Amino acid sequence: MWKPDRSSSKSLYQQIADDLERRISYGEFPPGSLLPSERKLAEQLGVNRSTVILAYAELRALGIIESHTGSGTRVSKYKWGVTPTHTPNWHRYVEGGSFLPNLPFLRRIREVLQQDKSMIDFASGELASDLSPVEEINILMGENHYTEYLGYDNPQGFVPLREELVSYLSQYRDIRTTESSILITSGSQQSLFLITQCLLTPGDAVAIEDPSYCYSLPMFQSAGLRLFRLPVDDKGVRPEDIRSLYKKHRIKMIFINPNFQNPTGAVLDADRRIELLDVASELGLPIVEDDPFSLTAYDGSPPQPLKSIDPIGSVLYIGSFSKIAASGLRIGWMVAPHSVVERLADARQQMDFGLSVVPQRVAAQFLKSHYFQPHLGRLRTHLLYKRDLLIEALQHELPDLVSFTIPQGGLHLWCKIIPEVNDNKLLEESIRRGVIFVPGSVYGSDSGYVRFTFARARADEIRSGISKFAAALRGVLC
Ligand SMILES: Cc1ncc(COP(=O)(O)O)c(C=O)c1O
Repeated sequence: MWKPDRSSSKSLYQQIADDLERRISYGEFPPGSLLPSERKLAEQLGVNRSTVILAYAELRALGIIESHTGSGTRVSKYKWGVTPTHTPNWHRYVEGGSFLPNLPFLRRIREVLQQDKSMIDFASGELASDLSPVEEINILMGENHYTEYLGYDNPQGFVPLREELVSYLSQYRDIRTTESSILITSGSQQSLFLITQCLLTPGDAVAIEDPSYCYSLPMFQSAGLRLFRLPVDDKGVRPEDIRSLYKKHRIKMIFINPNFQNPTGAVLDADRRIELLDVASELGLPIVEDDPFSLTAYDGSPPQPLKSIDPIGSVLYIGSFSKIAASGLRIGWMVAPHSVVERLADARQQMDFGLSVVPQRVAAQFLKSHYFQPHLGRLRTHLLYKRDLLIEALQHELPDLVSFTIPQGGLHLWCKIIPEVNDNKLLEESIRRGVIFVPGSVYGSDSGYVRFTFARARADEIRSGISKFAAALRGVLC
């Protein structure tokens, strides 16, 4: 009997829906006939019932099957009978378009986390609610009484937030700028999107770190860019690699996450920073400095941004609230020459008429409030505590099977698994045991790594999560 292919990039439910659609169209299940119950089909195919529920939901949405309480799920008489009505084949439309879907591993992780709330989550790269300033934000929101008309906002973003960011960037990041050089974005992600869509042209070559968060974004391929890798060691990327990529491929831009890099936690060495800026200015190359983690530095002294030592304006600087406050606010910012800010603001205006004023106002209030600095202090202490819990658990459970460099900031631990195991098998076995992480291959070319995020799980889950992971790893190894 046909079974879905677990190694396919297509999700299990979609494979099942496609198979059923094919069997229905070949007449194996005629119009009006009863389909197997969700439970029975799940048993036959060796999948969770929830996967079959999703497959049936897809076929129902296409009008191919119908479900009525008490009489089970049947092939639709209308779709396959004599009537002339035809539901559009949404499935084919969904496969069209030029914007690529997320990577299969990331879609699988999202699906599991949506379905199973008890899963111990070492995958989501964000803060747990106890690390977010939830109370403070509630208080600040309670202070808001909107007296003005809530119309479309300034295309560059809410002016009071940009003004607050001018002082924030000067105080915390040593970056001197003006509000006209700041674009507020829906997280750093939107900055990356706007840069790839508006400043680059399909076919352009760009350099990204390997491993890197950017590697996991089909967004770069959707923009038609050619990606070239800058290997990251414990001191970050090597500037001389940029020179050789430029010679070979005429790269047009460099994307770099120099502080507590995602996923490795690496910090770009101070000498290499200077050298990197020198190479960029010599070749006339822009650097996109993606800097969401620097204020998590556990010792309270974040590394200096490239932007603050960029004498000629090569750096487009990107920041975000996501990793230091709350990812759900969707507040990020870019510091760039005014011409760039204007171009990107104009493009964003065409996409969505700009950001919502409400979270921008809250973000401005939070930055200005007496809550912000103590929150950062608490955040660092808690992250350090959780990092140590994770390290202790790994050293206790898997002393012989993992190795890692201890990060000094950020939310992630980049862990080498010895010996190498199949990413998919390890992920599925871990999910079966109730714990989830991101396989390292999502972030780059090297296999045999796992990224654990320690910020999302509760402190009391970390030990048991690692013990489940250890059982999964040993299970896959034997
Ligand atoms: C390095 C890096 N850049 C950008 C982002 C996007 O974050 P956001 O859009 O929430 O600011 C992430 C999220 O994980 C990240 O790790």
